[in-house]
Amino acid sequence: MFVGSDVEEIAATKTVEQLRELRTKLLGKKSRLSQDLAGLTKLPPDQRRAEGERLNRRKRELEAAFDERERALAVGQLDTALERERVDVTLPGRPLRVGRHHPITATIRELTRVFTGMGFEAVEGPEVEWDYYNFEVLNIPRDHPAREKYASLWVSNPLGDDPQRPMLLRTHTSPMQARIMERRKPPVRVIVPGRCFRYEATDPTHESIFFQFEGLAIDDRLTMADLKGVLYSFARQMFGGDRKIRFRNDYFPFVEPGADVAVDCFVCDGKGCRTCGHSGWIELLGAGMVHPNVLRAVGYDPDRYQGFAFGGGVERLSQLRQGVPDLRAFQQNDVRWLSAFGQVS
Ligand code: PHE
Repeated sequence: MFVGSDVEEIAATKTVEQLRELRTKLLGKKSRLSQDLAGLTKLPPDQRRAEGERLNRRKRELEAAFDERERALAVGQLDTALERERVDVTLPGRPLRVGRHHPITATIRELTRVFTGMGFEAVEGPEVEWDYYNFEVLNIPRDHPAREKYASLWVSNPLGDDPQRPMLLRTHTSPMQARIMERRKPPVRVIVPGRCFRYEATDPTHESIFFQFEGLAIDDRLTMADLKGVLYSFARQMFGGDRKIRFRNDYFPFVEPGADVAVDCFVCDGKGCRTCGHSGWIELLGAGMVHPNVLRAVGYDPDRYQGFAFGGGVERLSQLRQGVPDLRAFQQNDVRWLSAFGQVS
């Protein structure tokens, strides 16, 4: 028996598995050593003691060698594991990417905050609309030339087309005026942000998909002075405390009188610059007193109730507030643009 070479073999094992196999071979029940130990009883008594001591010494030697190797392998395994799973705590961390609100969302939230502060309730309406709400009820009948202003995207009705009830993607948020009045009794005060669609070629100032916000207030003694007060307050809250507003006569079939509303340029204070196209004024909204025909169409008595409505473009507000040059960027979802103009809530 060459104990020395066995011990060397033990020391040479590379893995815990190899070591376990070798242990079975050298110390297991079927090993030579175990058999010799079992055979001790068959030896004559005078040899038994010396041979027993020799075999047990050898067993302890081997066990000691196995234990030592086992410990060494375990440490080695730990070392390689540590090496493999090494973490460099001195590396700079990966920054968390913070999400942002799209500038349209941020602007809608801001204008909604301003109007809710004046007692308006924010509501939303359908993007696919009946001709009736988009035009008819707003005092724009079938052959009215005002329809030409709204290049419409007509859609087919999934439930079957009815020539009497055409459907379209709403061209403005004004249909919500009628939807709200049909459902509620005065007083009404709502602000309606939402997506609108027009069949138009896109350029730096036009998009076929865009957002508007509609305001509507109906009560029994509202006047144009209330409209002016509300919009004046809105302009100052959005663009700063020194702003002036300008009302000019304008025509929309669903208001009378109608106005276009501009704010004096907050970049040049009305002197004239690029932002305001050298006019000193920035056009913000269409507005006016709700037309009696509209009130009648929704079942309101125009002798008893009257009110005002206004509507404007959300992207335009956002452009003005943040200096965005090209309107088309709002729909392009370029992540670099979004992280430049998006707003962390
Ligand atoms: N809906 C009109 C437009 O898109 C704007 C408007 C709204 C005008 C409310 C007057 C009153 O052109």
